[in-house]
Amino acid sequence: MTSRNQSRRSEALSPFHVMDILAQAKALSQQGRAVYHMEVGEPDFATAKPIVEAGIEALRQHQTHYTPALGLPELRHAIAEYYDRKFSLVIDPKRIIVTPGASGALQLAMICLLDAGDNVLLADPGYPCNKNIARVLAAEAVAIPVTAENYYQLDARSVAQHWNSRTRAAMVATPSNPTGTVLPKAQLAALLQFVERKQGRLIVDEIYQGLVYENDDYTALEISDECFVINSFSKYFGMTGWRIGWMVVPEFYVDTIDRIAQNIFLAPPTISQHAALTALKKETQVILDARRDEFKQRRDFLLPALQQLGFDVAVKPQGAFYIYASCEKFTDDSFNWVKKLLTEQGVALTPGIDFGSHLANKHCRFAYTQSLEKLQQAVDRIDAFIKNN
Ligand SMILES: Cc1ncc(COP(=O)(O)O)c(C=O)c1O
Repeated sequence: MTSRNQSRRSEALSPFHVMDILAQAKALSQQGRAVYHMEVGEPDFATAKPIVEAGIEALRQHQTHYTPALGLPELRHAIAEYYDRKFSLVIDPKRIIVTPGASGALQLAMICLLDAGDNVLLADPGYPCNKNIARVLAAEAVAIPVTAENYYQLDARSVAQHWNSRTRAAMVATPSNPTGTVLPKAQLAALLQFVERKQGRLIVDEIYQGLVYENDDYTALEISDECFVINSFSKYFGMTGWRIGWMVVPEFYVDTIDRIAQNIFLAPPTISQHAALTALKKETQVILDARRDEFKQRRDFLLPALQQLGFDVAVKPQGAFYIYASCEKFTDDSFNWVKKLLTEQGVALTPGIDFGSHLANKHCRFAYTQSLEKLQQAVDRIDAFIKNN
């Protein structure tokens, strides 16, 4: 018999339930049914033309070799300039590490900070991959239930309650996935102060920076240089498939992260780094800001439309492209409800269970990564579904 050895750690990784939904949605599409994709966590827009052209030009120029593990020096400089332009912040490019997406940055950060048996605190609901990255490292992710009261975000009090001798770090995302809520600056400042007092590290995932609709967009780097700040070209810059992101770390960690990156990734993708240089240009940002405005319009349509149907949205989402809504009026089993909605009306959502366990069965996530016209049609179908069930 063939040996099927497999690490217990890899067996323990939880799947994305939304993959089931996606497979079902694909099968429906193949049968010729109209499917409304509100489960997908990426912009529907194609990558902006100047960025694509820059990628093609990089290929023409034979930019197909490895770069330094921490990224092209000119891209690290360009990211520093971006912080200067956007937030009037001077960041030493040495502290900027280019990564294969925010995913690569999250892995580097956790490898750098966590030993086996350590723990990291994170929000429930929250971005699901983080707990699995911790698991791969034989560390533990401690999920802290968060509620509307604190904008579905960790605060110093909840973190203090869960902090123990094995805790090395806490993680937040602002704006958050799945709730789209922004962590108020004062709440973040208090959190940073607490974590620093404990000599731990706060990892602040700012992947949805730039997609903020009414609050001032800010970075944790305005408050402290002691945290790990994660970012990406995936969302605001619309480059999910290019697999390129970055991280800003305290200078002390740069050499260690260089060694980790050399061993884990060797280098971030070269073509994407050249394209990212163009993504950061002022001229490109005009295109990206127009897309942000379109996301805002979609949110401003979808939020009241869902509330009118009876979904409860406890905190108005100020960023990203998600609405995390309670479907408690209709079901206490959102996973099966979402599956039924897809089968009967062709509308695909993400069930709450993908983001944790706290009240997960009563929630689902709507991604407004579809045109306004499609969103309107999807709302009509959800309305019909609710009336028929
Ligand atoms: C909060 C958050 N962090 C990180 C990621 C990973 O993004 P990427 O690796 O494409 O940059 C995502 C993707 O959806 C996310 O929502």
